[in-house]
Amino acid sequence: MKQKELVLVTGGAGFIGSHLVDALIAHGYRVRVLDNLSPPTHNSKLPDWFNKKAEFIKGDVSLKKDWHGALIGVDYVFHLAAYMDYHLDFSKYFVTNVSSTALLYETIVEYKLVVKKIIIASSQSIYGEGKYVCGKHGVFYASPRTESQLRKHLWDIRCPRDNKLAKALPQEETDQLHPQIPYAIAKAAAEQLGLTLGSTYWIPTVVLRYSIVQGSRQSFRHFYSGALRDFCVRALNRLPIVMQEDGQQKRDFVNIHDVTDAHLLVLQNKNTDYQVFNLGSGIETRVIELAKMVCEVAGTTFTPEMREEFRINSPHNAIMNIDKFKALGWKPKRSLENSVREYATWVRNYPEALRFWRKTYKNMRKENILK
Ligand SMILES: NC(=O)c1ccc[n+]([C@@H]2O[C@H](COP(=O)([O-])OP(=O)(O)OC[C@H]3O[C@@H](n4cnc5c(N)ncnc54)[C@H](O)[C@@H]3O)[C@@H](O)[C@H]2O)c1
Repeated sequence: MKQKELVLVTGGAGFIGSHLVDALIAHGYRVRVLDNLSPPTHNSKLPDWFNKKAEFIKGDVSLKKDWHGALIGVDYVFHLAAYMDYHLDFSKYFVTNVSSTALLYETIVEYKLVVKKIIIASSQSIYGEGKYVCGKHGVFYASPRTESQLRKHLWDIRCPRDNKLAKALPQEETDQLHPQIPYAIAKAAAEQLGLTLGSTYWIPTVVLRYSIVQGSRQSFRHFYSGALRDFCVRALNRLPIVMQEDGQQKRDFVNIHDVTDAHLLVLQNKNTDYQVFNLGSGIETRVIELAKMVCEVAGTTFTPEMREEFRINSPHNAIMNIDKFKALGWKPKRSLENSVREYATWVRNYPEALRFWRKTYKNMRKENILK
């Protein structure tokens, strides 16, 4: 009988990784996970949702010795382990996210390992504020809004030539990259590194730029893990929903199961080799609409507080064009409501989410990330 193919998932104990592990096992692959169970995602213990059929290696992707052990006999690699959020130890983004990518290829090349494909997890954040269009002057790449603009509550992006309101355009894979935070700069470097080394050493490599992925198991311990966690924890605990900026920011939210479906397709489709794909829903949602939906699901009245809080270097709009992925035959099937319901049901089982949320909110203020 033919031996089942072996897939290595780094970061496979985390949110996206653990769902991917489940999907791979369900589709008949053998799965090995390399994860250091690091905080803030974990408290050093393997989470209770981790699939018992997967082999687990506790190791660090920034250490070559850990890569070597994990890569033996592997057919495919999903490199998802990463340092995330808005922390002040900037160098760690490069050690964990960029150096690890170099070590992955270095180990394969040095030990002449035969890996059929590497899929690298990247992020929409590398586009920065992205492209806008002005009715009179056409398309332009917007600069990040300055702190003084934001302090004056000038949230919108305007044409630099006539100061008229400009319209956000969905980001495309061929767009210029303007990452604005260390995490995003490291992600842009990691994907460039992977694609370059992949094509140099004939290791098929694919980059997936995720928008905002939503669903169960999304860490409630992260420093900043997004609007869904914030709104859900507040709504379920009958706390007021506080909007950042004016709540009109546009985002692309994609369901975790649509994301895992897309990963399975990429694994076996040779047309994806050496390519970059946006992986989102392709739907523009205003943050205030997400908040409203969370309140509906939680059964609370929606009375948002507009305190004009903001985060430095967070784009006003981040929307995605997913036509390239759709041309492969994949399309998102789950609604935003599906994602909100799944997350809310899951987080209800973790009363400690409120304590972590309070701590991160306080820290974000203390470290001047949330103003
Ligand atoms: N969640 C999203 O919306 C989103 C959006 C864009 C990109 N991404 C990317 O997707 C990937 C997975 O994100 P997630 O949301 O599942 O995060 P997560 O925090 O839930 O999972 C990350 C996993 O990586 C592990 N890890 C961290 N540092 C490690 C190291 N040095 N060695 C080994 N393991 C390590 C953690 O222990 C954790 O299990 C990341 O690369 C992230 O940048 C996620």
